[in-house]
Amino acid sequence: MKILTILGARPQFIKAGVVSREITKRQKKGEKIQEIIVHTGQHYNKNMSDVFFEELHLPKPDYYLGVGSKSHGAMTGEMISKLEEVMIKEKPEVVLVYGDTNSTLAGAIAASKLHIRIAHVEAGLRSFNMQMPEEINRILTDRVSRWLFCPTDTAVENLKKEGFENFYCKIVKSGDVMQDAAIFYKQFAKKPNAEIDSDFILCTIHRAENTDNRKRLNNIFEALKEIAQERQVILPLHPRTKKRLLEEKIDTKNITIIEPVSYLEMVWLLEHSSLVMTDSGGLQKEAFFFEKPCITLRDETEWVELIEHKFNVLAGADRERIMDIYKNFTFNTNYEINLYGSGKASERILRDILK
Ligand code: UD1
Repeated sequence: MKILTILGARPQFIKAGVVSREITKRQKKGEKIQEIIVHTGQHYNKNMSDVFFEELHLPKPDYYLGVGSKSHGAMTGEMISKLEEVMIKEKPEVVLVYGDTNSTLAGAIAASKLHIRIAHVEAGLRSFNMQMPEEINRILTDRVSRWLFCPTDTAVENLKKEGFENFYCKIVKSGDVMQDAAIFYKQFAKKPNAEIDSDFILCTIHRAENTDNRKRLNNIFEALKEIAQERQVILPLHPRTKKRLLEEKIDTKNITIIEPVSYLEMVWLLEHSSLVMTDSGGLQKEAFFFEKPCITLRDETEWVELIEHKFNVLAGADRERIMDIYKNFTFNTNYEINLYGSGKASERILRDILK
C-alpha cells in the first residue's frame, strides 16, 4: 500500500506527525506500507516549517514543491500542477490530506482528476461562512474524498445533512488527531525563550478575516492592550499579522510579542497559561485539551461543542464585547467530557484506509 501524504502549513505538520508515527509502528511490525511525503512549501519560514520537522522528528519530505506565498488562485494552481506530476510519477493508491488549507484543496483536486482515492482527515467541519477560504477548501475537499475522517459527531451530522450518505464515500468518526498529538507530546513540552509571568494569557491572531480588515484588527488590539495593562498577554506573532500591524500602524503597547513558537513550546504555553484568546481553529481545541478557558476572536467556529459546553465563547472582533466577556463570562471548568475521542484517531484512520 502506497500512501502519498500532502502537507504545507503549520498545523498539518503536527497532524500528519501522529499518523506517520502510526505508519512507522506498522512498518516495524512488517506491514507493507509506504508513505511518500510531499511538502507544498505553503509555509516556508524556519519557524513556520523546519522547526516542526526537527522537533517532532517527522520524516523528511520526499518532495518539496517550494510554492510559497501567493494569491489564493496562483498558490492553489501551482500546487495542483506540481502535485499532479508527483502523483503521476509515484502512482499512490491513496492520497492523504489534512484540514482545510490551500494545500489540502490542491491535493484533493490533483488526486481526484487522476482517480486516486482521497482520505480527508478533519472532514465535515463547517463554519457556514463562505467568506473564509478554509470553508471553501473543506467543502470541496470533502466532496471528492473517499474516506471522510470526522473528528466530532457534529462533523458527521454536517456531512449527513449535505447528503454525503448518497455519495460514494465512507464517513468515519475517527476522533481528533490533534488530541493524539497533545497526549503524546505533552511529556516533551519546552519553555519558549521569553520572560513569562506566572499568570499570563496566551494569544494568537492570524485569520484573514481579522488581519485583512483594519477595523477588526484594530479593535482586537485595543482590547488586548487594555487587558495587557493588568495581566501579561503573550502573542507569538504570525508573519501575516506582523506585516499587517506594520502596514496599518497599529500600536501593540504592553503586549508581549514573540516570534512564532514551535509545537512543543506551544504545548508549554498552553499548560502554563490561565486563559487562551485566539482566532485559530486548532488552538481552541488545544485550550480544551489542556483544560484552559478560551475566548475566540471570531464570529463563528467549527468547534461548536466547545461553545455549547461553555469551555469557549465567541467574542468576535468587537472591543466592548471582548472586554465584557473577559470580565464577566463564567466558563465551564468541568473537563470530564469526551468530545474529541480518546487519542486513538490516527490508529483508527489507518485501520480504515488499510482495510
Ligand atoms: C494558512 C491556512 C489556515 C491555517 C494557517 C496555519 C489557507 C487558506 N489558510 O493560513 O487555514 O490556519 O495556514 O498557520 O491555506 N508567511 C510567511 N512565511 C511563511 C508562511 C506565511 O511570511 O512561512 C506570510 C506571507 O506573507 C503569506 C501570509 O503569511 O502571504 C499568509 O500565509 P498563507 O500560507 O497564505 O496562509 P496562512 O495565513 O498562514
